[in-house]
Amino acid sequence: MNILDGKKVSNDIKNEIAEIVTEMKAKGEKVPHLAAVLVGENGASLTYVNSKVKSCERIGFDSTLVKLDADISEEALLAEIDTLNNNKDIDGFIVQLPLPKHINEEKILLAVHPDKDVDGFHPTNFGKMALDMPSFIPATPYGIIELLERYKVETSGKHCVVIGRSHIVGKPMSILMSRKGYPGDATVTLTHSRTQNLSEITKNADIIISALGVPNFLKGDMVKDGAVIIDVGITRVPDENAPRGYKIVGDVDFQEVALKSSFITPVPGGVGPMTIAMLLKNTLLSRSRHQSN
Ligand code: GUN
Repeated sequence: MNILDGKKVSNDIKNEIAEIVTEMKAKGEKVPHLAAVLVGENGASLTYVNSKVKSCERIGFDSTLVKLDADISEEALLAEIDTLNNNKDIDGFIVQLPLPKHINEEKILLAVHPDKDVDGFHPTNFGKMALDMPSFIPATPYGIIELLERYKVETSGKHCVVIGRSHIVGKPMSILMSRKGYPGDATVTLTHSRTQNLSEITKNADIIISALGVPNFLKGDMVKDGAVIIDVGITRVPDENAPRGYKIVGDVDFQEVALKSSFITPVPGGVGPMTIAMLLKNTLLSRSRHQSN
């Protein structure tokens, strides 16, 4: 069993980007600038956004955190997005999800200019990704692709089973794994809540990517020997002994499944840290595309 060490790889990527930023500064070029919009006080979202901003500082990016009240109107949020779209200094921005219930998420994501959509959530970017055109690839699926590549995990002709059809992870992941080239060329099965006989499907998988959000869902008897396991689950489970009162638990029963796997991502320290690294990579890419301003 080999650990796919997302913490280490994400650090490597951040160091690589930091070096590029140092060169940019030396040449007197503008450094990449990422903005994050946070609506309300959702605990997990606050943690994620803070760590995105902190990572920007570490690698030398400019960053802006736009914190808005939970009761902001949809109209006012759209106006904030319009301001960010038109701010030439900002290369890319994200609107942290989930948004409060009174706000139409679809409407908000459509308002983000595709050229600044470093989350890759706009339909223009999703469509371009599906058609193998240059685009922004959503950070979590992009991070998984990068992990597979850096550990030289074979994907061609393999049966890849994706669990969960979310717009952010499952659906884009299924598209990326079936793309021509490496990492891709896999035969993909996209499973979800209505899938029948799931364990019969996962037992036939060479690669399992679980993005379900159900702690310890994937058990040892659902997996064949030598499978590659990617765990995207990050559920907060109450734990009195943990300093914050909770621990992060993945979709995969690590104790059981690790024994059978050839490669496996731990939780925490697997896919999670990769998401931030790839968001930074997308922001750098956006900067290079905007180089004329
Ligand atoms: N909420 C959970 N994951 C993400 C993400 O990757 N980007 C944004 N904007 N919100 C999220």
